[in-house]
Amino acid sequence: MDDEFETLKGKDAQKHIVEKAIEVAERVRSTLGPLGHDKMLVDKMGDFLLTNDGATILSKRHDNDPVARIIAQSAKAQEKAVFDGTTTTVVLLGELLKLAWHYIQKGVQTNAITKGFRAALEIATEVAEENATTGDTPYDAAKKVAKTAITGKSAEDYIEILSDICARAAEAATPDNIKLIGRPGDPNDAELIEGVVVLKQNSYPTEETEFSGKILLLDEELGPPQANLTLADPSRIAQVAQVQAAYMEERLAAIDNMGIKIVLCQKGMDSKAIQHFRRKGIMAVRNIRKSDMHRVAKATQGEVVTDLADIMDEELGEGVCSIRGQDGPNPYIQVVGGNTKVASIILPAQTEQTAAEFSRAMDDAIGVAYITAKSPKTVPGAGSIQARMADAIKKSPPMESSRADLAKLAFAEALMVIPKTLAETASMDIIDAMFDLSLNPKLGVNPLTEKIEDMTHVQEPLTLVLTSMNTATENAIALLRTDEIQKSRPIQETFMDEMN
Ligand SMILES: Nc1ncnc2c1ncn2[C@@H]1O[C@H](COP(=O)(O)OP(=O)(O)OP(=O)(O)O)[C@@H](O)[C@H]1O
Ligand SMILES: [Mg+2]
Repeated sequence: MDDEFETLKGKDAQKHIVEKAIEVAERVRSTLGPLGHDKMLVDKMGDFLLTNDGATILSKRHDNDPVARIIAQSAKAQEKAVFDGTTTTVVLLGELLKLAWHYIQKGVQTNAITKGFRAALEIATEVAEENATTGDTPYDAAKKVAKTAITGKSAEDYIEILSDICARAAEAATPDNIKLIGRPGDPNDAELIEGVVVLKQNSYPTEETEFSGKILLLDEELGPPQANLTLADPSRIAQVAQVQAAYMEERLAAIDNMGIKIVLCQKGMDSKAIQHFRRKGIMAVRNIRKSDMHRVAKATQGEVVTDLADIMDEELGEGVCSIRGQDGPNPYIQVVGGNTKVASIILPAQTEQTAAEFSRAMDDAIGVAYITAKSPKTVPGAGSIQARMADAIKKSPPMESSRADLAKLAFAEALMVIPKTLAETASMDIIDAMFDLSLNPKLGVNPLTEKIEDMTHVQEPLTLVLTSMNTATENAIALLRTDEIQKSRPIQETFMDEMN
């Protein structure tokens, strides 16, 4: 081959797309739902990650096939937009393409399939909206979906307190600005805290519990510069000490002159500096983690500065720092600034393993709680909403074009892959389960009891269901319309061809 591209055209291209999409869907399928399995991803360095998150599994896989990459990217985009539902999207996309391919092989044109899919999507959207709860407060709706995200995980024992925290957090801040802080302890003591939590103490003991005003965020050692002295020149010791003292005085005076009330330092502070701050009643905290420094900067609208010599007033943050839990085992400092959309959750757990599990469950729960608080409508999950949508599509009047109508019905069948997969993860009898569900689509799959039963207590955000379905459909249509793939061949392969 003298071409550096490998080109697939027409049916060959479509076949490749469909096969690849099915393969990708298979990679994540077994992770769906409360009994979905985790996958252990091990990278080249031997580091591993346990996850059941669809987007993560696909993005770590590094499949260079263009179809695999498109699907992984759309899963990532969905995760970014609505924080969840990535496995559902990928599984549905795979199923839509599989069923479409069945009809394409029988001579149905892509256009007819597109028409049928779009008609079905419209009906499904109406059904989802009709089945959505209305009248819930943002808090109540967010709490419901947070409960769904926590159910079936080890955090479930603390579902009341944790779902309450998620719902309140969802109203307080965006998920990116919510930090989970694990620590040993009783999960019943979990709490939502406004602002940033810094697991440090003031550098000197004080009766004061609250400091407020200008905040200096410093990424520089607060101590005199090191001098290279040997015992051979003792005469210079006094001189150097003088220079050092003058240097420190100048810097501390700069802090005083700017009216700074709180000094948060990423590096160390020497005892002279600490004494100075104590005398002046300035809060001073040292060795703060970089990530915490940046969160404080965001919350207090300041900047982390690296050189005390030339700070400007606008680089200083402004806010209130409170010393909390001083008498308990886990003291911390709470920083609240003008940007109130920043929050922290203290999440105690008994072991490191449970801490990691809690943190993953909470990450998901906070994300869905957040999108639900913004648009407080929820629909029944556990495959029930898909069964209801499929039922309505099947009962809708036939389309003018019989081929488009076949595609519309295929869409209904594809939706059932969600309840079907949930049933599979519980090793239920699939034929019986799907039969029961199609007879009574108001029910859902309970993988925990292995029964088709009323599952209205499992609620999902309407936005999430609609986004998943739209993303899957639009991607399926775009991929079906592709009739040529030009794949750049791996460099090594091209090189070998040239050698021959
Ligand atoms: N307790 C439950 N019983 C039955 N089904 C449930 C339960 N909890 C959640 N589900 C269903 O599980 C599905 C979601 O599973 P999961 O969270 O594994 O995948 P996802 O949200 O699509 O993708 P990801 O979380 O990987 O981004 C939804 O259909 C939801 O209704
Ligand atoms: Mg999920």
